[in-house]
Amino acid sequence: MAVIPVALAGRSYSVEVGHSLLERAGELAAPFLRKASVPVVADRNAWALHGARLEAGLAETDRSASVYIVESGEGSKSWTGLAALTDWLLAEGVERGDHVIAFGGGVVGDLTGFACAILKRGCGFVQVPTTLLAQVDSSVGGKTAINTSAGKNLVGAFHQPSLVLADLATLGTLPERELGAGYAEVLKYGVLGDRAFFDWLGVHGSEVLSFADGPLEHAVATSVAMKAAIVAEDERETTGRRALLNLGHTFGHALEAQTGFGERLLHGEAVALGMVLAARFSARAALMDASDASKVAAAVSDAGLPAEVASLGLNCDGATLVEHMLHDKKMDAGALPFVLLRGIGEAFLARDVDLADVAAFLHEELAR
Ligand code: GLY
Repeated sequence: MAVIPVALAGRSYSVEVGHSLLERAGELAAPFLRKASVPVVADRNAWALHGARLEAGLAETDRSASVYIVESGEGSKSWTGLAALTDWLLAEGVERGDHVIAFGGGVVGDLTGFACAILKRGCGFVQVPTTLLAQVDSSVGGKTAINTSAGKNLVGAFHQPSLVLADLATLGTLPERELGAGYAEVLKYGVLGDRAFFDWLGVHGSEVLSFADGPLEHAVATSVAMKAAIVAEDERETTGRRALLNLGHTFGHALEAQTGFGERLLHGEAVALGMVLAARFSARAALMDASDASKVAAAVSDAGLPAEVASLGLNCDGATLVEHMLHDKKMDAGALPFVLLRGIGEAFLARDVDLADVAAFLHEELAR
């Protein structure tokens, strides 16, 4: 088991990564659970597959779960979903000093975290992420949000969990495509800040994707450690450091918007392709070697993730994709910062990228 601290003044917490954590949830979360009945907000599928293990873990310390089921999918991260959940938490008698367990992927984590940020002006919560993407990214760092008709994650709060329990056994039931989408975020950490980890994934990536215990734990723990370090330096994304975690997200956002934010292109797949585009754009601008950009594309493709925009069969031009970027929440005083690369492991924030150049580049990629 690995325990990774997220060091925040007065609000530090641990991310625990390993096996059989659900069975030990009562003991591990004991400092935060004041009552015998524990409110658990759970993704429907995750609960059906793994809920009994959490219940057994809580029972070990004479606690039981009071469960609120959330349907899978981004549609649950809505104003109505938030209202229904907060009403339930109030009916459960959750107090400011209590903790709620969020059990599932990013949708449940984001929705529950936001509900806990506003319930009685803020109660506690424990993240129990059950997808690879949630374990390495969304459950760590305190970004919580819902979607509105204007876009994804546009209403939310920074609200840190008190504990994150990432039980690796929950990943074994993930559909292959969802596992791959989560792996894109693992790869992202290597590309943005750790060339040795990128190289290690080149050797061990297939073992990670086939759930080999040691490599899987190493990949998740290394990813979480990098995220924890970045969040500790720049919790609210004000210095540009945390923004590096958005590598691949600006190009990816445009592709997600063009494909309707759905099954056609999952978020992690869009990030993977977005990373390839950020690398190629960086090489085209002579910021990094073309050979490094090719290595990023090869790593994405080797993981079974999309590495070519042309393969999506989009019926649009580069300017249309840039237009989508302008609605990205990363827009800042009329400018759009891009995370670019000086090499693998050397991401930086570029605030002066010419969008006409981006459109021309995407035009070339669409025709590749
Ligand atoms: N997923 C990016 C961040 O947490 O900052």
